Amino acid sequence: MGKLSLKGDFPVDKFQTIQTPFYYYDERLLRSTLQTVRAESDKYGYKVHYAVKANANPDILRLIASYGLGADCVSGNEVQAAIAAGFPASSIVFAGVGKTDREISDALSSDIFCFNAESMPELEVINNLAALQGKVARVALRVNPNVDAHTHKKITTGLNENKFGFALDDLLPAARFAIQASHLQLIGIHFHIGSQITDLSAYEDLCVRINELQDTLDAQGVSVPNINVGGGLGINYEHPNHFPMAEFETYFRLFSQHLRLRPGQTLHCEPGRSIVAQCGSLITRVTYVKQGAQKRFVIVDAGMTDLIRPALYDAYHRIENITSDTGEEIYDVVGPICESSDVFLENAHLNVTSRGDLLAIRSAGAYGEIMASRYNLRNLPVGYLF
Ligand code: LLP
Repeated sequence: MGKLSLKGDFPVDKFQTIQTPFYYYDERLLRSTLQTVRAESDKYGYKVHYAVKANANPDILRLIASYGLGADCVSGNEVQAAIAAGFPASSIVFAGVGKTDREISDALSSDIFCFNAESMPELEVINNLAALQGKVARVALRVNPNVDAHTHKKITTGLNENKFGFALDDLLPAARFAIQASHLQLIGIHFHIGSQITDLSAYEDLCVRINELQDTLDAQGVSVPNINVGGGLGINYEHPNHFPMAEFETYFRLFSQHLRLRPGQTLHCEPGRSIVAQCGSLITRVTYVKQGAQKRFVIVDAGMTDLIRPALYDAYHRIENITSDTGEEIYDVVGPICESSDVFLENAHLNVTSRGDLLAIRSAGAYGEIMASRYNLRNLPVGYLF
C-alpha cells in the first residue's frame, strides 16, 4: 500500500471554494486536444464537426468554435446553441431520425450546411418545407452500413437492427428521389457506426463498405461531393493520466489510407467524446463513509442524476481522492439517490477516505453534464472551465 501514484493534477484550493458537486473542465487539456485535432485533420483537408450532444456547456462550445471546427447537431436547440456559441451556420450538419417540421424549418431559415436525412418520409418533408421558404435544402443521406463497431450494445448504431439511417438497399432510390426533388440538393453520404470505438479496425471495415458503395453509385452515375464518416473515436477510461488524448493521428491517417475519395470529395467527421471526455471531471464531496454488512461505502454528494453513465451503461470511470494521499483502501463509491443503481464504482481503490474529502470522477467531460437530470428534485450540476 502507500501513496497511490498517477493522480490527476487538480487545482484543489480553488475547488474548495466551489459548491459540490460540479464539473471541472481543464481548459489547457481541451485546448491542446483541439490543437491536435486541427493539426491532424488539416494534414488531409478533412472537416471536423464537433458532436454537440457530447457536451453543450456554452463555455466549451465557444472554445471549440474558436478553433474553427464545425458542429454536428441532433436537435433544433443544439443548432441554435451552436450558432449562439459562434459556429458558422455554414459549418453545421443536422442529423436525427425524428426531426420535427419546426426543427427543419428553423434550420432552413438559419441556412445550415446540411441535413443528414435518415428516411424517405423525412426527405419528402424537407423538400416540402424548403419549397415553402423558396429554398433548396442541402441533404446527405445517412446510410446504415451494417458494420459492427465492437462497442457497447446501447451505443452501437450502424447495424441492420438499429433504427438509424437508410438500409443499404434503399440508398439508390433515396438518392434518385433527392436528385430529382426540386427543393433538395444531394451533397453527401453520411455514416455513423457507434461510439467509444477503441478497436480502430471497425473504421477500416467502414472504409471498405464506403468504397463498395461509391463504386455502386458511380456505376449508376450518382456522385456526391461529401463523405461523412460520423463520430465514435474512443478514449481511455482506465488511464486518463497516461492517455489524455485519443488516437487522433492514427484515426485520420486510417481514412487517408483506406478510403478512396473521389477527386474533389471532402471527408467530414463528427467526434464528440474524443474531444471533451478527458478534460472533464465530476468533483464531488464525501458526505459519509459507512461500514455496511459486507462492504464499506463512500457516500458522495454527486449521484446518477449528475453522471448517469455507470448506471445506464455499466460504464467505468476512474475515481481519485484528490485531498488524501495516505494509504489505500477499497470502497464502493455511491451517490445519495434512492436507486440501487446509483453506484459510481464498486471496489474502488482510493487513498484513505473521510467525510469532507473531494473525489474526482474522471473522463466525465462527454455525456456527463449534458445527460444530468433533476430526478429526486436535485439541482443540475454546474460546469466550470478554467
Ligand atoms: N454522430 C452521430 C450521428 C452520433 O449519433 C454520435 C453519437 C456522434 C456523431 C458522436 O459520437 P462520439 O464521437 O461522441 O462517440 N451517451 C452515450 C453515447 C451516445 C452516442 C450517441 N451518438 C455514452 O455516454 O456513452
